[in-house]
Amino acid sequence: MTDDGALYLGLISGTSADGIDAALVSFEHGAPQVRATHAHPWPPTLQQRMLALMQDEATLDLDAFGRLDVQIAHSFADAALQLLERSGTSAASVRAIGSHGQTVRHRPAGDYPFTLQLGDASVIAERCRIDVVADFRRADIAAGGQGAPLLPALHAMLLAREGRSRVVLNLGGIANITVLNADGSVLGFDTGPANGLLDAWCLRHRGESFDRDGAFASSGSVDNCLLNALLAEPYFALPPPKSTGREHFHLGWLAAHPRIATLNPADVQATLLELTVRSVSEAIARQTPPTADVLVCGGGAHNRRLMQRLTEQLEPRVVSSTAAHGIDPDFLEAIAFAWLARQRLLGLPGNLPAVTGARSPRVLGAWYQAPAPSSLRPEQA
Ligand SMILES: Nc1ncnc2c1ncn2[C@@H]1O[C@H](COP(=O)(O)OP(=O)(O)O)[C@@H](O)[C@H]1O
Ligand SMILES: [Mg+2]
Repeated sequence: MTDDGALYLGLISGTSADGIDAALVSFEHGAPQVRATHAHPWPPTLQQRMLALMQDEATLDLDAFGRLDVQIAHSFADAALQLLERSGTSAASVRAIGSHGQTVRHRPAGDYPFTLQLGDASVIAERCRIDVVADFRRADIAAGGQGAPLLPALHAMLLAREGRSRVVLNLGGIANITVLNADGSVLGFDTGPANGLLDAWCLRHRGESFDRDGAFASSGSVDNCLLNALLAEPYFALPPPKSTGREHFHLGWLAAHPRIATLNPADVQATLLELTVRSVSEAIARQTPPTADVLVCGGGAHNRRLMQRLTEQLEPRVVSSTAAHGIDPDFLEAIAFAWLARQRLLGLPGNLPAVTGARSPRVLGAWYQAPAPSSLRPEQA
């Protein structure tokens, strides 16, 4: 199948659950070209329920679970349909949607490792009249991998430069790095918490869903005693492959440190920002030569305080947003899921075993067919 110029639509809501990112992408000689993007907000009550669930603050019975799966799917379909409408694109011209869904649990270790993304793909296919590829992570986990991160392949495609080492740092709810080595090899793993904890603490103490520009963190001082206690978390010292999520790094994890209760909220926020800076910087220092520059994507690239501290901490490396390299930092993940949908349709692997730890490359995702045009008319009675 040759599909130069065919359109694919990528959809994802990450661990921040701040909204659904959508990107319409075509591929010229395999290289992604972004045609249009759209950031779609969650209905607030749905968002609150998902966040409580992700952070282990709520439980669900099976009926509520089933309804949530469908509700999330409707928001994903809304995001796709709005992107099509705003870009003047017909559904018929899109070959497939790649829908990541919303991760509500990610447990890649243990006797029965699993990862769970919600957003019923049949509902999305039915509403959009476009084939949908979904459930991208489980084949990798079944093959002994982490099921994450899946972005490094796309980072390599867009940002690798021959003969130069680079690091791509994605600051989402969780932070992950992709190491693009000068010899062409690629590594990647989740370093630990980023926006997820900052958002949660800011919401609790400021009533705002995120700490714009890190202003709340800037108003406090880092508490080194708390910082060192947080940095003693065993996850940080684990060797890759590794991945994590909000079921691990949430406010309950923080509350296990009694010192929290003695500090003012701004100092805790400053300390959480510094926790991201230190855990990310130490992971980068362990895995890459000091000459490797750092290209930042994800919502954290807009947090001025966080970027300033990373720049100071990572010196002499140059730290810059991927925007400076012509790539919108907010849509790399959505582009990745458009690419992964295409890989599935072409029967090509989507994982990098060197990153996820899977036994070997796997074709990722399940393919849900759109209803055929002839089936769209209601049945005659
Ligand atoms: N101007 C800003 N200042 C501080 N943080 C920001 C800003 N813009 C976005 N963010 C952060 O980025 C997060 C969203 O990042 P995103 O890359 O979408 O993460 P995820 O992939 O986990 O959804 C928000 O929840 C917020 O914490
Ligand atoms: Mg997001």
